[in-house]
Amino acid sequence: MTDLTLPDDPDPPDCADDGVWLTCIDCGHDVAPFDDIVYTCPECDALLEARYDSHPTFDAFEGSGVWRYSAALPFETGVTLPEGATPLHYVPGLEEELGLRNLRVKHEGMNPTGSFKDRGMTVGVRVAEELGVDRLACASTGNTSAALAAYGARAGLETLVLLPEGKVAAGKVAQASLHGARILEVDGNFDACLDRVQDLADRGEAYLLNSLNPFRLEGQKTIGLEILEEFRDDEGRFPDRIVLPVGNAGNTAALYKCFRELVAGGDLAPGDVPKLTGVQAEGAAPMVEAIEEGNDETRRWPEVETVATAIRIGNPVNAPKALPGIRETGGTAVAVSDEEITSAQRALAGEGIGVEPASAASVAGLRKLREQGEVGAGEDVVCLTTGHLLKDPDAAAAAGNDPQPVPNDTDKILRHLAGENVEGGLLSRLRSLL
Ligand code: F0G
Repeated sequence: MTDLTLPDDPDPPDCADDGVWLTCIDCGHDVAPFDDIVYTCPECDALLEARYDSHPTFDAFEGSGVWRYSAALPFETGVTLPEGATPLHYVPGLEEELGLRNLRVKHEGMNPTGSFKDRGMTVGVRVAEELGVDRLACASTGNTSAALAAYGARAGLETLVLLPEGKVAAGKVAQASLHGARILEVDGNFDACLDRVQDLADRGEAYLLNSLNPFRLEGQKTIGLEILEEFRDDEGRFPDRIVLPVGNAGNTAALYKCFRELVAGGDLAPGDVPKLTGVQAEGAAPMVEAIEEGNDETRRWPEVETVATAIRIGNPVNAPKALPGIRETGGTAVAVSDEEITSAQRALAGEGIGVEPASAASVAGLRKLREQGEVGAGEDVVCLTTGHLLKDPDAAAAAGNDPQPVPNDTDKILRHLAGENVEGGLLSRLRSLL
């Protein structure tokens, strides 16, 4: 069984570069980080994770945003827009509804391209520069492609994104398009897109910046570092639980790594590690299935569907890193319906926090776990909301109030507001003719 610790004094292997190297999570094989392009273990093909010759402590951090945490990252800085330093909102209405001691919402939609992906890209693109590649690529349900396109543009590198045809929210396609990515719409779901882009990467055609790339997750670790620092500054302790939406399970893996490194550095007691609690949509829930059935691997779901298109994923590539994270921290995983997701999206919007459907899954899952008694009233909980409302304007409009057509006449508008039936605007008159 994996535990919460890393070696106390990690001895850098000969292949380490400036105190950084990659280690296979299965066979322990060490790999040079910046000599050749490598995504998985050359010996056994399992996932790799970055290792350092020292562990981070809170007093080593200075500045703001992702690069504040350079002591826990492979470089001092990178191509930055800048990212991180997102708000940890109070949500008094939801906190009261759920009867929790504390409920806070970490809104990752406030990153430069509107999702947490920017944290991974600032580090990933820095590594791409180190490796000297000239074309970056990813498969995406949308947000990764938007972030890759923006950071690639900023770095002056060519970007290629593979999207599942007809299943990516409008805001995300618009971002990838305007930032200049070459967009390929694949006749298949996200998992098929990832298969294709992995093939392209294996053939040396592009540098892969999906979360299979271990350096993406290094950047995403900083979500956990920010949550722990800010919550402790406000409340004098660390949160009991972090609830997050799960797709490829990259964030789940990244947060688990963040906790293990802090435990190894001595700043986080094993008993204070927040319980990682993952939420998936019922129509795309292989991680929930694996947790419920006690499996070490996920089953690939060939058909997936949900209003939360960002997490419409049937084959979470980071499951081998994330499943131990959920188990070792004492967390759990839960599936929610599209109706529950939309209801949570409205509840967050009602507190002024605009998120896309996948993000609202965290709050929907927390609601369900409170009802089931899995989460206790005395808990301090942080929910992660991963993407901005404007990413998916169609979902927002469908979940929100309909516009009311009125004539261009103040008296009639006042009568309309008073509940009277007045002649509508041009659009409604046209509609009545149809
Ligand atoms: N929330 C949002 C808004 C996302 O875009 C994603 C993943 C997730 C949650 C899931 O995070 O993979 O770390 O478990 N989006 C990827 C993309 C797949 O292509 O944009 P995870």
